[in-house]
Parts: sequence; structure tokens; C-alpha cells
Amino acid sequence: GPVINPESLTNFHALPRCLIAVSPDGNIAWIEDDVIRSELEAALGQHGLLQGDYILTELKPGEFIMPGFIDTHIHACQVPNLGVGGEDQLLDWLNNYTFPTEARFKDMGYATRVYPDIVNRVINSGTTTSCYYATLHLEATKILADVIHEKGQRAFVGKCNMDRNSPDYYVEPSAEESLESTEALIDYIQGLPRTPSGEALVHPIITPRFAISCTDKLLTELGDFAESVPDIPIQTHISENPKEIEETLELFPNASSYADVYDQFKLLRNNTILGHGVYLTDDELQLIVTRGAGVAHCPASNFNLSSGMAKVGKMLDYGVKVGLGTDVSGGNNPSMLYTIQMASTTSKMVAIQSTGEEEEGTFTNKRLDTATLLYLATLGGADVCCLKHRIGSFSTEKAFDALLVSVRDDTGNPAVWGYNQGRDPTEEPHSRYEDKDLKEWFQRFFYCGDDRNIRRVFVQGALIGGQEFQG
Ligand code: GUN
Ligand code: FE
Repeated sequence: GPVINPESLTNFHALPRCLIAVSPDGNIAWIEDDVIRSELEAALGQHGLLQGDYILTELKPGEFIMPGFIDTHIHACQVPNLGVGGEDQLLDWLNNYTFPTEARFKDMGYATRVYPDIVNRVINSGTTTSCYYATLHLEATKILADVIHEKGQRAFVGKCNMDRNSPDYYVEPSAEESLESTEALIDYIQGLPRTPSGEALVHPIITPRFAISCTDKLLTELGDFAESVPDIPIQTHISENPKEIEETLELFPNASSYADVYDQFKLLRNNTILGHGVYLTDDELQLIVTRGAGVAHCPASNFNLSSGMAKVGKMLDYGVKVGLGTDVSGGNNPSMLYTIQMASTTSKMVAIQSTGEEEEGTFTNKRLDTATLLYLATLGGADVCCLKHRIGSFSTEKAFDALLVSVRDDTGNPAVWGYNQGRDPTEEPHSRYEDKDLKEWFQRFFYCGDDRNIRRVFVQGALIGGQEFQG
């Protein structure tokens, strides 16, 4: 049936009659871009598949398949706080709302009760890969990793390193203990059972919360440790809020910029994921490109905490890898669709405010179009977490991490003027699939869809969520 397949920052494919073959190991065996119904068996036969060799899933009119979303920045432990505290800016918000919420995860019973619902909600909103921040607690973070593993989502999971400038009730006692529990978490996650194909879906990630909450000693030790494990990614926050930047530069007087702080401690590299980057300077963008690090653009959070509007177009023109992040609960919604819509709004506001000297073929100060937004939410995110060879689009040997989306009116989402509305029910649908219809269905979903339109969620070929999933 119909398939949406992102290709680049400026192009995606809308294939009305696509056939994707998924192997038992969950990887894509092959793809035929255009197969008409009457030639289906012949097409399968040409790939050596006879009846009985395969299970065929044929989509209804108004349904399509697209790659799952990749959320490059979410705090799983902050979901219980969703929607609360948006009157504050970052540093007050952390002290007044976030740290008290996160401190509750000291209680493993609490973690055991809430993490399953949190991960379910994330999966059902269409996120097939998440870069999760947990709290500073080792045990609760192991529980989060267990839950994700059990549910079959693809993810990176890190426990926060934070040994200063945090309240007494929520701070690590020393740099040594912070590092020890980080190493213990990594060992634990790497010891989780693999998928049948031998691949791990849950990965560890080194997570210094942000420069303000880490002593020089902790950052030094983390940087040395990170150097010994070059394949383990790093995630942190950067340049989100003016007061935060001011405080950071006061704490690190020898650094020439916020990005330079991380660089000096060997924490800025090709698999570093930098959350926000609202106020990055030209020099910092250049440094980030040189190191090959990526940015998690968190537009909903940047509005919600009145942080500002990140200049994503400019980042792209510099050649920075960019993905999208919900940044729950700085962001007030765990849905990547909502985040995509906020990224669109941010780019329109930046464009409206610009002086109108945009260059042909560039992104700076321009509205991001559907192809670019789709790229950021899929392939861009995959690039940021160094999994572009595995996820983010459909191609042979990549994993089948996918959403079955429906814009039919029986989904219960009244915002989407669906496929069936006003159509003649006797109309024969399959012969009528057009590229134009599919692009419209996709736009309806992209700009006003929600969880109700996400019928099935697949990771590594396995059905793990969505409205039709009975887990
Ligand atoms: N900077 C340090 N910690 C946080 C956090 O939890 N959320 C956001 N948005 N920014 C941060
Ligand atoms: Fe964050």
C-alpha cells in the first residue's frame, strides 16, 4: 500500500503502491516502489516468495506506512510533570518543579509503577527511537532500561551526572560516585538480552546533565572515561536560556564559549547530542560541525519555558546534524507530531522576523517545509544518534521501524478531515491510489494528526504499540 519515505532535507517519496518485504529478523529484505494489485503475486514470485512463504498486510484507503519518529531528547522521568510550571524560565523551573519531581525516583516502587505507562505513551505517540534522560538514580534508571527492553522500543538511556548546583535532596555526593554509577548502568544495559538478530535495541548514553550541574572534576573524569568508550554516545544541554549561559561562562572562566566548555572536557564529538542550542554563536556552530556533534532541536520546550527560538535553518546551512526533541517536560507534549508542528511554527516566526535577504538554496531564516520537517523527525534524528545506517527511512537492510497511520474518519480524530468524508462508499479504492491523495493524507496527519491516527507501531519488524495493539 501507500508508503511515505524520507530521502533528504529537501525530498521525500510518496509511493501509492509500494511493497516492502520484512524478514523475520525485522530488517527490510527488499522494496518494490510500484506494484499494481494484479501483479502482486508475480512480484513476490520474482523475489522467490511463493504463497505460504509470507504474510501479506494490505492497507485500506486512507492508510499509509512511514518510518517511526526519532525523539533525540526526552526526560522520561519528567512525564509526571507534563504541563506544569510553564510560567517559569529554565533555572527556576528546574528548582521549583523538575528537581522535586525527579527526586521521587529514589523510590524504586515509584519507578516501577510509572515508567511502564510513560514508555507506553511515548511508543503510542509514534516514537520508535527515544534518547532518554532518566534521573541521577542508578536503580530507577535500570528499571527504565528494563521497561523499554521488555516493550521492544529502540532507545538510548542515560542517568544524569550532577554533583553540584542542585538541591541537597537531589544531587550526587561526589564525582567518583557519579562515574561509578554511570559505568554500572552501562554494564547493566549492555548485558540486556539481544534481539534474535543479535542486535541490541537499548543502548547506554553518557548524560552529564549540563555544565552548571557538573564540577570540573566530574567533567574531567567523564571526558576521560568517554574517551575509553568512543562508541557510547553523549547527551547534554547547551545554550538554552540566557541566564543559564551567563552562569555557565562564570563557572568556566577559561572557556571561550558554552560549546568550548564541553570541548575542553573531550565531551564534544561525533556522537554527542546537544539539546536546544538556541543561542549558539557562529564560532560555536563551526566548532560543533568540526567535531561532528548533532543538535536536538526542542521547539515546544523552547516556547514553553520562554527560552527562545533556535535558528535551525542556520544550523543546517552550517552543516550541523539536526534532529527533533520533545524535551518533556520542558516540552509540554511527548508527541513528536506536536514537536514537528512547533518546529514548523518556530521556523515561520524566524522567517517572519528576518530582514528578507534569504539566499536561494539555503535554509537560513526560511520556513521549513514538509520534506525538511519530515527529515528532521526521522533521518535527521537517526544521523544525530549515529544510526542513519539502521533507521530513519526504508531501504534494504535497514530495520523496519515504522508507523501504520490512518486518516480514515473511523480513527476518532475529528481534526483530520479523513479519507472517507464525503466519498462514495461504493467507489473501488485500490485502483485509485494517487500520489496526490497520499501527499494529502500525509499532510493531514503531519499537521493535525495525533495518537489516534497512529494505528500500529513497529520496531525491528515487531508490533509494539499503536491504537490497534493489544499488548
Ligand atoms: N537543563 C538542565 N536540565 C534540564 C532539563 O531537565 N530540561 C531542560 N529543558 N533543560 C535542562
Ligand atoms: Fe532537556
